[in-house]
Amino acid sequence: MRIGYKWKYEMAFRKSPEVHKYLPETHLYSYKKLQSMLDRHTTVVLKPSGGTGGQGVFKISKEHKDRYLLHHHMKRMLLSERRLQLYLDQILKKSTSHYMIQKCIPLLTINNQPCDVRVIVQRKHFRSPWVATATLAKVAGKNFFITNSRSRGTVYPLEEALKRAGLQAQARKVASQRLYEACLIAGKVLGKADRGMKISGFDMGIDRHLNVWIIEANPKPNFKRFKKMKDQSHYRRIMSYM
Ligand SMILES: Nc1ncnc2c1ncn2[C@@H]1O[C@H](COP(=O)(O)OP(=O)(O)OP(=O)(O)O)[C@@H](O)[C@H]1O
Ligand SMILES: [Mg+2]
Repeated sequence: MRIGYKWKYEMAFRKSPEVHKYLPETHLYSYKKLQSMLDRHTTVVLKPSGGTGGQGVFKISKEHKDRYLLHHHMKRMLLSERRLQLYLDQILKKSTSHYMIQKCIPLLTINNQPCDVRVIVQRKHFRSPWVATATLAKVAGKNFFITNSRSRGTVYPLEEALKRAGLQAQARKVASQRLYEACLIAGKVLGKADRGMKISGFDMGIDRHLNVWIIEANPKPNFKRFKKMKDQSHYRRIMSYM
């Protein structure tokens, strides 16, 4: 089974003390690790180490009386420990890449649906600085927890999303500054390891305390959602760096 880019990036990030604080606890999957993560965090996300556009991403919570709530796409199941293990065995058997377990970030919500932020960072050449060229916020579709387009969620400009999530002006400023700072540092770290790298798309989480988290770094981010935005300046900026 192959190990996908997400785990490779996780390894690169871990080597950098500056990026450490933005990393949610993440491990390669083993059932034992899952149990110890659930004991510590109550809710975790299970995802393939290669990108899948939200396919195969599961949320698991430990409920009372040794029951587990498994959430995948629109489906929620309450399972005993044994049923959970059997279910996961089946899924993991079919996967072409190793799975990872990640602490679930309690994301900001809009109308009770979780919201995360896509930030594109780019550079023109190996020696030029990384620049955040585009951002947008993605809100999960009804009954989903993933914000990918397959959840048929909503996309907002960052500032509008932060407003809709209930943040006041000062909090919005802090959150966006932290987002940009984290992505530029993380871009720099990946760019050092790979001189040819010119773009990275970050899925960033923001929690209630305005801490920002790297959910994933994507080496081939999709621009479709930026192309569809009313404000075309993001898409134009991306293209000007290509
Ligand atoms: N640790 C987490 N905490 C909260 N939500 C998460 C977490 N990990 C993933 N999610 C949700 O699931 C979505 C999909 O996860 P992720 O971005 O890691 O994989 P992916 O989108 O399938 O990968 P790719 O974009 O490379 O195809 C995220 O955008 C986010 O909405
Ligand atoms: Mg993603």
